[in-house]
This record gives sequence, structure tokens and C-alpha cells, in this order.
Amino acid sequence: MNMIPSCIFCTVLVLLSLQQTTSTHVTVGAVIDGTSRAGKEANVSLQIALEDISRKADQRLVLHIINSRGEPALASLSAKRLIAAREVQVIIGPHTWQEASRVAEVSNQGKIPMFSLADVTPIWAMEHWPFLVQASGTNQDAQMKAVAAIVQSWDWHRVNIIYEDDTVSAFGSVIPYLKESLQEVGAEISNLVPLESVIASSLVAELTRLREQQCRVFIVHTSMKLATRLFQKAKELKMVEEDYIWIVTNSITDFFHSLDLTTIHSIQGVIGVEKYFSTSSIRFADFKRRFQKKFSLDYPEEGNDQPGISAVEIYDALWAVAHTYGGRNMQVPKHRATFMEKMASVHFYGLTGRVQYNARKLTPSHMFRIVNVIGKSYKELGTWSKGLGFSESIGDNAVYNSSMQNLGQVIWPGQSLYTPKGWALSNSSGFWRIGVPTEGMFKQIINISYDPQTNNFTFTGFVIDTFREVMVRLPYHAPYEFIPYNGTFDSLVEQVYLKKFDGVVGVSVIADRYKYAEFTRTYTRSSLTMLVPVQSETPSRSWLFMKPFTKAMWLLILAITIYNGFVIWLIERKHNQRLQGSATDQAGILIWLSFTTLFSLQGGRLHNNLSRLVVVVWLFVALVITQSYSASLTSMLSVQKLEAKVSDIDTLKTSNAAVGHTRGFYGRYLEEVLGFKSINLRSFSSQEEFANALKTGKIAAGFMNDTYLKLFLAKHCRSFVAVGPSYTVGGHGFAFPMGSPIIADLDKALLEVTESGKLRELEDKTIGEEGCVGVDSSNDDEVSLSIDSFWIIFLFTGGTTTFSLAIYVLDRLKESWKHHK
Ligand SMILES: *[C@@H]1O[C@H](CO)[C@@H](O)[C@H](O)[C@H]1NC(C)=O
Ligand SMILES: *[C@@H]1O[C@H](CO)[C@@H](O)[C@H](O)[C@H]1NC(C)=O
Ligand SMILES: *[C@@H]1O[C@H](CO)[C@@H](O)[C@H](O)[C@H]1NC(C)=O
Ligand SMILES: *[C@@H]1O[C@H](CO)[C@@H](O)[C@H](O)[C@H]1NC(C)=O
Ligand SMILES: *[C@@H]1O[C@H](CO)[C@@H](O)[C@H](O)[C@H]1NC(C)=O
Ligand SMILES: *[C@@H]1O[C@H](CO)[C@@H](O)[C@H](O)[C@H]1NC(C)=O
Ligand SMILES: *[C@@H]1O[C@H](CO)[C@@H](O)[C@H](O)[C@H]1NC(C)=O
Repeated sequence: MNMIPSCIFCTVLVLLSLQQTTSTHVTVGAVIDGTSRAGKEANVSLQIALEDISRKADQRLVLHIINSRGEPALASLSAKRLIAAREVQVIIGPHTWQEASRVAEVSNQGKIPMFSLADVTPIWAMEHWPFLVQASGTNQDAQMKAVAAIVQSWDWHRVNIIYEDDTVSAFGSVIPYLKESLQEVGAEISNLVPLESVIASSLVAELTRLREQQCRVFIVHTSMKLATRLFQKAKELKMVEEDYIWIVTNSITDFFHSLDLTTIHSIQGVIGVEKYFSTSSIRFADFKRRFQKKFSLDYPEEGNDQPGISAVEIYDALWAVAHTYGGRNMQVPKHRATFMEKMASVHFYGLTGRVQYNARKLTPSHMFRIVNVIGKSYKELGTWSKGLGFSESIGDNAVYNSSMQNLGQVIWPGQSLYTPKGWALSNSSGFWRIGVPTEGMFKQIINISYDPQTNNFTFTGFVIDTFREVMVRLPYHAPYEFIPYNGTFDSLVEQVYLKKFDGVVGVSVIADRYKYAEFTRTYTRSSLTMLVPVQSETPSRSWLFMKPFTKAMWLLILAITIYNGFVIWLIERKHNQRLQGSATDQAGILIWLSFTTLFSLQGGRLHNNLSRLVVVVWLFVALVITQSYSASLTSMLSVQKLEAKVSDIDTLKTSNAAVGHTRGFYGRYLEEVLGFKSINLRSFSSQEEFANALKTGKIAAGFMNDTYLKLFLAKHCRSFVAVGPSYTVGGHGFAFPMGSPIIADLDKALLEVTESGKLRELEDKTIGEEGCVGVDSSNDDEVSLSIDSFWIIFLFTGGTTTFSLAIYVLDRLKESWKHHK
């Protein structure tokens, strides 16, 4: 290739000030790629800068611009010639590191300061070449944080990274920053794709491979040249369509303003992170006006005459050179080292903002513009600043938020307004196919009804409602459809593994099922409870009449009756013929009297006031006691006392009784954990059958989970009762493919549904209607009446009787004493 001297186009622009007196002048050389957009902008911008420096700072610079045509060898040769033939004191360098590194090498050999415009400069180069100045650069750490913040804003959990892998251009150097930033926001990297050479066939193969996978978020960090081809191929492969997300970095975004329509068309909906510079200042407006005029004149072939970051950066770089030499009488320092020292203290406001060099590096901005490609151009959504977050406006009234959602509406690829979920289904129908079990005892939980006329299924019930609630709370758009599945629960979960379904609802979370799918958190409590038929408490029926009073009470009644009878007999025996006779007669009479006093002896037949007193009080007490007795007995007779037939698992096991359970994994649990023999286990799928089996005694007990139990008891309240402890098992969860990133989102949404009280509401609506409270056999609610309730009246009657006895005894003593006298 003939690339030696003939191809060097050398433009010498000498701006001679007419009244120039001093012979000292500064000669600046620029090596730019005149074939690239950046080079073209730089060429125009340098000339405007030269004018401005002459006019505003009254400084005279001599500028030689050489076209390197993007060829590193030519760039190196150009630099040599600039130094040798033109005796330049400063070189402003090319935009790519491939070229810049060659120029830097040459300029450092000649100890000439060189302002590199390459976006990425490796650290070793700064250490190796003391005359290298980084006049452009991106705070890649901050930029990658911005990218991660975008990913986080929309709850995407997986990303693909595509970057240009070139040993010289250091695109790969940002990957550690990106990895770290993504890790901070909890996003995983599905694929890290280095694109080496731009062979179209390998590009297609790579994209096809990515398309077959499920991750739909792509972060692209390449040169514009490679990006153009990449997006063209992606567009052809329908990868810039609905459901896809493309995020590009400044190495691409910086050229968005200059893209041709074909390229713009292939990147519709792309989100970009762009280096920020203020476009609202008067100074920029003036620059822009002059730039556009000159640019459209010099490069009529370029469709767009907007100045980009390459234009403003080189403008500021030339100003930095001017400021370093400073003053009207420019002194060209003898030693180049002095230039570097002076430059370190230079600071001024340029088009990009504050320009200052720190350790030979332009202090990069922490602020980025977030843009969205729409139509023929792109829209600025807002900015992102390190440590502050996203903001729609800048300045004092800016409101920052860590989420991008508050910025304007993003138009996603495929002109979609719905935020893509960043994750594709195994099948590209666009709908998540959610499997629903057709088996189930209760329509309140899952109700699938089929309409033969429209050939549609309608899905309702607690599980379905909960799933719908969760789905509306996802941060992105995820359309889904329910599909009925007739088979066992285990095989239903297996369908997720077989990719027949994208998800499954209405199944319990069981450790064993994790080999086919992953589950969300559970949204129902679940415990296995035993259910047995009830029977009335017949064995104790014959002794029911004893029940109203406790034993102590009966004994006390007996004692007080005999006591009262004895006292009456004692007092009355003188006056009543019937109360006299032999000792055995007397004893019989006494006992007989004790009981008949109450009922047969009328006050009129008593002769002594003392016995009358005893009887009156005793009658009153007896009235109270008999009334209490009959009331208590009546209530005991009217309430049918029910009790569980069997009350513990051990009895069932030792008696080898058959037990039933609802379908699902409970049989396994009963066998393996609770130790029932498998021949004794019966599985039921219809509640009528289950209830009948229990009633007829085919099974002695049944096991079902709480949700079912509630509904079952509501229906068969009088016949069955839940007894014994509950065994905790996994509740209901949603099953999705293993490693699916949406699990985390569903969990979050599920928590929101729970915390907002919505779940409770759904539960109440569908399965909440309360049946009757289960009868608990251990709770003896009808307690017998004890002495505690009656001791006062017993004290009363006992006291009265004792009092009468005392008076009578005293009376007798007095009489016999009188007699003795
Ligand atoms: C810069 O622009 C001038 C016209 O203003 C043109 O003659 C020259 O070739 C350009 N230089 C490069 C390196 O493109
Ligand atoms: C950020 O935006 C969200 C809504 O998108 C809002 O709930 C939150 O309060 C905002 N935070 C701040 C600090 O403004
Ligand atoms: C089940 O769904 C059908 C159709 O939507 C409805 O008519 C029926 O009442 C539902 N049953 C229950 C128990 O919710
Ligand atoms: C039944 O399905 C058809 C499409 O198959 C749909 O257009 C229609 O809205 C559905 N009807 C109901 C009641 O869901
Ligand atoms: C499920 O399939 C079985 C036979 O495989 C059939 O008897 C039953 O009716 C089916 N159930 C539903 C709801 O389609
Ligand atoms: C995916 O969808 C196609 C039709 O779009 C269908 O033929 C194929 O069976 C589906 N794959 C699975 C695993 O269901
Ligand atoms: C309760 O048991 C039934 C039948 O085995 C099952 O379909 C349902 O998913 C279970 N519910 C919970 C909350 O585990």
C-alpha cells in the first residue's frame, strides 16, 4: 500500500496577527482521522478554536493538521514529520487509542507534550509516557454505575454484555467496573461476549446464540463502527424488537447525533449513556452556530451538522494549550518539562465545563446524559450523576431519584411503551403459559370452567386471583395465559422443566419438586391436620342425672338432709307418737323423716317453733337446689354432646385402621413421616367421596391441609372434627423454571400483596366464609354445679338447724336442772 509521503495532506493554518512584533510563536500539530466523523468535527472545531484564541486571548498559534485516515502507521509517520519538519511544540492527538498510542510513542521520544483524544487510555501508558496528556476520557467507573442504575431501575436481573475485544483499543478495560457495578445492584451477567474481528458471519452466529437464550438485556460497549454492523445484523435477526433491551455506552452514544438514517433505523428504542456537557450556554450556542455553518460548507456529504463531544473536547484542548503558554507574549519554554508543570495549574471553563488537568488527566465529569433513540433522532430523558441518581432537570431545582422510572416515557424497541421484562420465555409466543391443575376438590381455590360455545376456559378462585394480583405488581409488562392441565401435581411441576409451561400455579412447595422447578415464597400457610367423624357421648348417658352436681355436692346434700332430719326428729319426738318406739324403728324413722320432711311434713303437723324454723329454711334451700338441678339437667339433655371417635394418630396406627388423604404428596408424608402403612392409605380426589368414606367408616380418619380443611368443615360441619396436632408442610407457591430471574420479582410482588392486606381480602372473599367451629372433645364446657355455687345457702340452713338444736338442748338442760331442784 502506498502510504508514504504522498498521502499526507498537510494543512497549515497560520494566523498572523498583523501587528506581530515577536518572532516567538507556538506551533501546534494535530493528527486526526479526516475520514471519521470525530476527525471531521475536530477539524472544523480546531479552526473555530484558533479564531477564538486569536480574537479573545490575542494569542498567536500556528496549527498544522494532518489526516491520518485512521491508520496507526500513518499517524505515527505524521507525528514524526510534524516534529522533525514543522518543529511543533505540542501535538493534539487522534481519537482512537490505536492511533493515539503510536503518536504518543513518537512524541515522547521527542519529548513533545501530546494531548490524546482517545476515550480510553490504559494506565500503563500514562506511567510509561510522561508527555502524554489525557484530554478526553470518560469516568468509566461512573459510566458503568450509570448503566447498572438503569438495569436496576427496571428490575432486570440478567444482562448480556457485548464489548469490542481489541488488544490495543481498551474497550475491555471497563468490564471489571461493569461487573462490579452490576453486582452491586444484584444483576447477573448471562453472557460476556467479546467481539474480536468484525466478520459478519461470526456476528450473526453470536447473535443467534444469544437470541436462543432467555436473557433479553444487552449492554453494548464497542466502537461506533462495530456497533453499526452489530445493530444492522441484530435488526435483521429481529432482535431490536419488542421484548429486547439494548443499552449502549458513550463510545456509541457520542455519535448518535451524526448517524445516518439506516443506522438510526436499526437502533430504534436503544437507551444510551452519553457524556454530559451543557448545551444550553450562550457560549455553546455561539459555537454551535459557527460550527454548523462551517461544517456544512466543508463537509456537505455529512447529513447532520450538529457538533458532538469530539468537537467540544478538541476545542477545549486547544484552549488548554493556549492557556498554558498564557499571556500575550508567549514564551516557548526551553524545557518541555516546564510546559507540563505549567499545564498542571491551568484551569478554566470551556465548552465541556470546568477544564483542569490532574496528573495529566482531564478531570472527567461524573454526570451522564440518558438518551433514548426515537424516530430520526434521539430524545434526552434526563441525566444521571454519580452519588445522586437520575434527574430530569439539572441545576438547583433538580430532583434526584435512584430510579429511572421517573424520567420521561421510554419508547422501547418495537415502539413498545411497556417496559420489557428483560427475560424471554422458552417459547416465543409472547405469553407466559401458566399451567393450572384441573384436579381439585374445591372450586373456591381453583375454578376452571369451560364454555363449549366460545371454546374458552375461564379461570377463577383464590389461587388464580392471587396470581393475577401478583402479576399486576411486577415492574414490567408480562402477559400470560392460563392453560388447564389434567394430571398429577408432580407431573404438572415437571412440565416446567420440560418447558411445556413457563410457570405453574396451584401447587404446593415441596422439596422434592425443586428438581424440576424453582418456587416463589408461599402465600398460604399449610399444615396437615387430622379429621375424624364425631359421635355423641352415649356411654355416660345413663349417669347423666348425676352430672348436674359434683360428687361433693351430692354428699353435702345428703349430709345436710340427714342432719336436718335428725334435729327435727329430736325436737318433735316428744309430741309425735310416730316418732317413738324401739331404737331400730327410731333410726329408720329418722332417715325416712330426713327425706320426707322436705316434702310431706306440713308446717301444721309440727309442734315446735324450732323445728318449724328448720323446715322453713330447709324448704327454701331445697327449692333453690332442685331448681338449679333441673335447669342444669335440662341444658345437658338438650345439647347433644359430640366427641371425636379417634383422637390420636397412635391409636390409628396400632389398630391398623385405614386413613384417607387428599391427593398430592400427602400420602408420601403420611407414610414416610408419620409412619402409616401404605396399604392403609386411601387417596381421594372428590370431597363427597372423602366425606362418605369417613361417614361409613371405610376410613377411620382423614388428612388434609388447612385450606381444604376449612372448606371441608364448612360443608360437613356436624359430622367431622379436626383433632390432634397439625404437621407443617409447604404451602402454595408459584413454580417457575430453575434459575428464573423473575422469581425474585414475584416474591417481591407477593410480599406487596400480602403486606397491603390484599391477600387477606382474597382469602376472606373466596375461602373465608366461616362454617361452624369444630367440636373439641377435650373441652368440658358443661361443668357440674359444685359447692362453690351453693355454700352460702348450705351455711344458712346448717346454721339455722344448729341454732335450733342449741336452743333445744339448752331448753332441755334448763328443764332437767329445774327438775332436780
Ligand atoms: C480540514 O478542513 C480543511 C477545510 O477547511 C480541509 O482542506 C482539510 O483537508 C481538512 N483536514 C483534514 C485533516 O481533514
Ligand atoms: C423515587 O421515585 C419513586 C417512584 O418511582 C418514589 O416512590 C420515591 O419516593 C422517589 N424517591 C425520591 C427520593 O424522590
Ligand atoms: C366457577 O366458575 C363458574 C364460571 O365462571 C361460576 O359460574 C361458578 O359460580 C364458579 N364456582 C365457584 C364455586 O366459584
Ligand atoms: C373467547 O376466546 C376468544 C378468542 O378465542 C376471545 O376473543 C373472546 O374474548 C373470549 N371470550 C371470553 C368470554 O373470554
Ligand atoms: C382427566 O383425565 C382423566 C382420565 O385421564 C379423566 O377421567 C378426567 O375426567 C379428566 N379430568 C378433567 C377435568 O378433564
Ligand atoms: C413453542 O411454540 C410452538 C408454536 O409457536 C409450538 O409448536 C411448540 O410446541 C412450543 N414448544 C413447547 C415446548 O411448548
Ligand atoms: C391442599 O391439598 C390439596 C390436595 O392435596 C392441594 O391441591 C392443595 O394445593 C393444598 N393446599 C396447600 C395450601 O398446600
